[in-house]
Amino acid sequence: MNRIFSGMQPTRQLHLGNYLGALRNWVALQNDYECIYCVVDLHALTLPQEPDVLRNNIREVAAAYIAAGLDPERNIIFNQSAVSAHAELSWILSCHAPLGWLNRMTQFKEKSQGKQANDAVLGLFAYPVLMAADILIHKATHVPVGEDQKQHLELARDVAGAFNRAYGQDYFPLPEPQILGEATRVMSLRDGTKKMSKSDTSDYSRINMTDDADTIAQKIRKAKTDPEPLPTAVEGLAARPEADNLVTIFAALADTSRADVLARFGGQNFSGFKKELVDLAVDRLAPITTRMRELTGDKAEIDRILKRGAERADAIASRHLAEVKDIVGLLRF
Ligand code: AMP
Ligand code: TRP
Repeated sequence: MNRIFSGMQPTRQLHLGNYLGALRNWVALQNDYECIYCVVDLHALTLPQEPDVLRNNIREVAAAYIAAGLDPERNIIFNQSAVSAHAELSWILSCHAPLGWLNRMTQFKEKSQGKQANDAVLGLFAYPVLMAADILIHKATHVPVGEDQKQHLELARDVAGAFNRAYGQDYFPLPEPQILGEATRVMSLRDGTKKMSKSDTSDYSRINMTDDADTIAQKIRKAKTDPEPLPTAVEGLAARPEADNLVTIFAALADTSRADVLARFGGQNFSGFKKELVDLAVDRLAPITTRMRELTGDKAEIDRILKRGAERADAIASRHLAEVKDIVGLLRF
């Protein structure tokens, strides 16, 4: 049986990269699979958080899931910390995760950059093991994520394999990454060689899921380009990261390919293309933003959805945790 699991951190605002690289694909998958979508609040604690802001962000990410089209009845939507089996399995798996594997994780290197080696916190280092636990506690088989999570998923597979070998059982399925769509890596609007990210200091680098139409228009108008007209074929995008990024975003939003976009705009300058891109982005994002605002206005409703989701997730996770405890030789009463 196939089971999907994925999650996002409630750290600041979701942006177009989160939407095109992950969330939109999750919505498509809900028709064919049993899906569990998590707000990974424990992961957010790996960087400093203001408690009240974190609480709000957890609800806001849940609202974004629903506003983007995830049905909380058909899918399980919950926050990670509400199901304690995630953290418990994380400990057990950490005892099967060699330091050498974790030392290779590029995201840890990036996030701990600028810190003295001994000042980076243990939670940030252990982050990929908690992520493996998120997936494995539900015995998920498929994990839809953006390209930046590929390495973490390989680690999850390796840890699952290490556990299975240690106990001589085929207990955990090895989860498959699903990196889907045209825009698996959306880049910054200010620098086509950098990933669009929540942590970029310039708000003009990204389109946030909460931006209104005017803000979206302004950001796209100011987006960096180069002086050449748009190329007529995909190969022409090769050494042009900003052009490539905008064309990719267009293709993803329009549910088409980069080749199709270039068939339409190739040879033209950026100004006409950008106008069309603004209309398209606003058309796709505005209904989501509106729905998100409505939902975040009703905290009680979001909390009710998360609580119900946590109960359903807990029913699956507790059963698996009990099996794991039996496998490894822990007593439970
Ligand atoms: P995060 O915001 O780091 O919790 O990421 C949540 C999901 O969005 C993950 O599946 C990421 O791979 C995906 N994601 C984040 N940034 C981007 C981006 N710039 N392009 C494509 N996918 C992204
Ligand atoms: N590390 C992921 C990210 O930053 C979030 C995450 C945590 C996740 N646990 C997960 C994604 C389990 C997929 C499955 O994007």
